[in-house]
Amino acid sequence: MVFDIGANGYALLRNPHRNKGTAFSDQERRDLGLDGLLPPVPTSLDHQIARIHAQLATLDNDLQKYLFLSDLQARNETLYYAVLMSDPAGFMPIVYTPTVGEACQKFDHIFHAARGIYLPISAKGHVKQFLSNWPQKDVRFIVVTDGERILGLGDLGVGGMGIPIGKLALYTACAGVPPELCLPITIDVGTNNAALFEDPLYLGLRQSRVRGEPYYAFIDEFVEAVQELFPKSCIQWEDFANINAVPILAKYRDQICTYNDDIQGTASVALAGIYAALRISDQQLTDQRFLFLGAGSAATGIAELISQAMSMEGMTLQQARSRNNLFDIDGLLTSSSRKLKDFQKPFAIEHAPVTDFAEAIKALRPTGIIGVSTVPKLFNRRVIETISEINERPIIFPYSNPTSRSECTAEEAYTWSKGRAIFASGSPFPPLTVGGKHFVPGQGNNVYIFPAMGMAVYATEARRVTDEMFIVAARAVAEQVGQDSLDLGLLYPPQSEILAASLHVAARIAEHIFDRELARIARPNDISRLIGGKAYVPAYGRIN
Ligand code: NAI
Repeated sequence: MVFDIGANGYALLRNPHRNKGTAFSDQERRDLGLDGLLPPVPTSLDHQIARIHAQLATLDNDLQKYLFLSDLQARNETLYYAVLMSDPAGFMPIVYTPTVGEACQKFDHIFHAARGIYLPISAKGHVKQFLSNWPQKDVRFIVVTDGERILGLGDLGVGGMGIPIGKLALYTACAGVPPELCLPITIDVGTNNAALFEDPLYLGLRQSRVRGEPYYAFIDEFVEAVQELFPKSCIQWEDFANINAVPILAKYRDQICTYNDDIQGTASVALAGIYAALRISDQQLTDQRFLFLGAGSAATGIAELISQAMSMEGMTLQQARSRNNLFDIDGLLTSSSRKLKDFQKPFAIEHAPVTDFAEAIKALRPTGIIGVSTVPKLFNRRVIETISEINERPIIFPYSNPTSRSECTAEEAYTWSKGRAIFASGSPFPPLTVGGKHFVPGQGNNVYIFPAMGMAVYATEARRVTDEMFIVAARAVAEQVGQDSLDLGLLYPPQSEILAASLHVAARIAEHIFDRELARIARPNDISRLIGGKAYVPAYGRIN
């Protein structure tokens, strides 16, 4: 016999978008056929949140908490977001990094319930049909990965799906992008991870990664299908390997509404730290010179956005780039350096070779050093003392992740600079006291940027996402840092206030979108009100 859940109360309890669980009122229970299907006493949303917190407290590891919250998301979306939004800073490490990384690594072993869309390359020619199986027809925001460079964990194949799911949860929890308009997608073109091939439980295609023309043709089919089915949507590319991330962004950024958070969001959050640092040193961006340790994708992405921001303040782009110098494993990038990659070439300067970083600081006299080398401890005592001799308030940003790879610790930067460093890092460092002064080190976390960008793009129905929008976002983050925070050396707003901070950033970006005539809706009188009015609030609505 078939058990028909139909459109009755029983089905309602299994619909995460409409389910209220024990919060269905007596009247609703009578009207919707729920009588008898729930414990008899209706509860409030607050009561449910408290119950979830109590259940989470009984779990002793973060992966269990992640799984518990995933189940809640599949059961009752409103309650899931009400819980996350009750303590976004506390839940971020569980629904996103670092716990999501472990969940992706164990994806095939802990798989519970399907969420999002999977597009295996075997679906070539049928991508539109696959996408049209998604029940929501008005999709506004897509986060898509091909699983090749998941966080710092490498190729996790189809297990990368945890990342679009987790990231979209932050779009909602941190900036109010409505969850029903969001779609996580994983493109499966195979994996080059031998361990996954050997795992009998692996859930993805067992083939080597498709490269080159067939890969890009599949991406093309995906982009076209999205445009046809969801013409108002924005595609955010996530955790693609550089070899694909850079050309994909270059190809589509001027054609559709799209961006890559690893490239553009990262650069924007670093620039936000610099704008806040300038509030401490009371200097202009155009007076700065930065020396990057590492000349990879993070370095060139950040250097390019800083250059564009400098050129918005009156310099030529070429002048601005010459103030952002890169130092890689073989030394300073100069026009005579051999084996320069295309994306490094704009930053190569006319200069004699320098192979020692501290010597490069002496030669170029930067106002700030930014570490994106992946190699720990390279901002050693000599480096920090050298830049501190040249600058009253040196900017010192060791951005390599995780903590074990940081170019220096907060304590080292403050101690060796005698408390004068303006410091921010990629990984978190706890508050500390050096020379009797208390410091709270800031963490340049992309979460200050991407949810706000998503909200602005959604609310304005933007046609494009431009680099200028990321510069505007960086300024909007920095202007929110209070003087009391700056006094402690903290360059970013508190993560506990992320929703309010993101709505402010989103309003600033939206204003810029209207100014540049990139919006697909009419400009309202009050842009903050537009953003506030569109923001998702986790509350139970009327069920029809
Ligand atoms: P990448 O691999 O593209 O670049 C690293 C570069 O450092 C390479 O060009 C490499 O040759 C160079 N390098 C290696 N050893 C060196 C040495 N001894 N001296 C000078 N240069 C050296 O990596 P990517 O994507 O640029 O990331 C770099 C680091 O930045 C990573 O640790 C990443 O976690 C971190 N990062 C942090 C972000 C944040 O906190 N918001 C955002 C993006 C990246």
